[in-house]
Amino acid sequence: MSWPQHGGNRAWGAAVAGCSPSDILDFSANLNPLGPPQSVLQALGKALSEPDPVAISCYPDPDYRRLRTRLAEHWRVDPDWICVGNGAAELLTWAARDAQGGEVWLLKPAFGDYERALWAAGAVIKPLRYPFPNEQGSLGLAELLRQSGSNPAGRILWLNNPHNPSGGLASRPEILDLLPQFQQVMVDEAFMDFLPQDDPEDLPQPDAEEPGAEVGARQALSQTLIPYLADHPNTVVIRSLTKFYTLPGLRIGFAVGHPDHWRRWQRWRDPWSVNGLASVAVEAALADKPFRQRTLAWLPVAREHLRKGLQALPGWDPWPSQANFVLVRCPGSATQIQRALLQRYRLLVRDCRSFPELGDPYLRIGLRTLPEQDQLLSACREILENG
Ligand SMILES: Cc1ncc(COP(=O)(O)O)c(C=O)c1O
Repeated sequence: MSWPQHGGNRAWGAAVAGCSPSDILDFSANLNPLGPPQSVLQALGKALSEPDPVAISCYPDPDYRRLRTRLAEHWRVDPDWICVGNGAAELLTWAARDAQGGEVWLLKPAFGDYERALWAAGAVIKPLRYPFPNEQGSLGLAELLRQSGSNPAGRILWLNNPHNPSGGLASRPEILDLLPQFQQVMVDEAFMDFLPQDDPEDLPQPDAEEPGAEVGARQALSQTLIPYLADHPNTVVIRSLTKFYTLPGLRIGFAVGHPDHWRRWQRWRDPWSVNGLASVAVEAALADKPFRQRTLAWLPVAREHLRKGLQALPGWDPWPSQANFVLVRCPGSATQIQRALLQRYRLLVRDCRSFPELGDPYLRIGLRTLPEQDQLLSACREILENG
């Protein structure tokens, strides 16, 4: 079985560990361990037990009017500015097609699917080294791009904020400043739900005082660009419901941006890319404010617990993270540790060999409950002590 390019491959982990996939405790996929929300499970159960279960017995509305309206109400944007998709991954495919034949500035290491999508679209990738944000959340991107020396006029920028795999968070003011310099921009905010005040009821409005400076604080605030997109028709934000609501099997994401993007994308794609059950799940998830509050209360505690635990391992160097995972540099071969964790403890962490800029010394570990993290940390300690 070939080495996985993505986290969450429990079938691969089980083959290495010699057990069934359900025996594997997965720290590799960056999913919220508190989910899926009960409200979503109940809504799905109800939808399936209707006398006529229309969520599966009818074709979805190809316009997804109701689903887009719910997302639009939640995010306080016009429904026409929303496009739903079969996970963020599907929407990346169409964002890449928009970039066809163009030069795309991509900060690396980067989520592997960007290269798949851009390569398939025939775009030319111009890699830039991801500069970890400073205390103020600045990536120093303007300077980096200036040094790259190319003509801004035809450039396309792809950003991921918060950044996978590092967990770094760039400040909104810096990104907003950059947007007008590009012909097109795609910002993947798949992990932004994990930042507090991302609840639209608390979303800063464009004329509110700019909260970018809070990025340097221990618990940063959301830096989503969604409320600012009306002024930036060249920019598309892609979001996923996979991570925060623990719904990777349903495949549901959405994009926000000027409707001209979707008019083009619609001509390229299958008319029913989001299934009926995913639509039911989104409605229930968006209505579940207590689940969001519970997650946002748990997250900083769990992250600090994991970071401190990793830091206590001799020679291990965890990076600061604003997301629901921690990137850690190990003193030796991280892939050997990954294998030992699987074979001896059935614990799956993400190696970073598919991120060539990081390679063998790094592991990426998704947050789980505190007892599960303790299980992982004591397994790591035993491996270090006993070899
Ligand atoms: C940065 C990033 N964007 C997008 C995705 C894909 O999300 P989805 O499950 O919604 O396709 C992932 C999945 O790991 C990711 O890490």
